[in-house]
Amino acid sequence: MKAKYISFPHRHINGANRINYFQKYAHYPILKFIESSIVHRLYSESLKFNTRQAEAGKQGVEWSERGIDLDSSIGCFFSQTSIVTILRQFLERSSKITRCHIWTSEYKHNEYINPHKDTHGTIQLLICLKNECAPGSGILGMAYNGAHFYHDLKPGDAVLFKATDILHWTSPAIGKTDDAPCRIVLVARYHFQDQPL
Ligand SMILES: [Fe+2]
Repeated sequence: MKAKYISFPHRHINGANRINYFQKYAHYPILKFIESSIVHRLYSESLKFNTRQAEAGKQGVEWSERGIDLDSSIGCFFSQTSIVTILRQFLERSSKITRCHIWTSEYKHNEYINPHKDTHGTIQLLICLKNECAPGSGILGMAYNGAHFYHDLKPGDAVLFKATDILHWTSPAIGKTDDAPCRIVLVARYHFQDQPL
């Protein structure tokens, strides 16, 4: 069955300042990247995929993930031209994407991910789909070149980042219940052709 297309309303996010920020701090937050109707569609599509328990090799650090198929509507969303154009603008390269890996990270009460760098990929696009955490919890932390950043992402907000270069983590999510995730992010990791796989 052909995947239903979820389009991204193209906005011009050109601008030398944005590119300079990305180069200097290895990430760029894009608040209100997508509107709530698209958030809901991506979220409901994600529920079609199974969850698996993830862990970071450190006792007590765990959360859930859903691997998302590339031929799904979410896969089409992340491979659409308007998004790839944005990635190329930030990376200042026009090379081909050779691989893309998409998943959700879902945090229940007290779950978090400890500071780490990813081992591969050229750039990641992370979009917040849900955040019902208590204020000050479930924060995306980042550190690069001695500078620290704390992003309290709301649904629809996004961050573009070089996950292999910037240290990143999520502080423990404080939810109202243990049963359902209170914070969900959808992540696409892109490999560009001129980057070793
Ligand atoms: Fe990561």
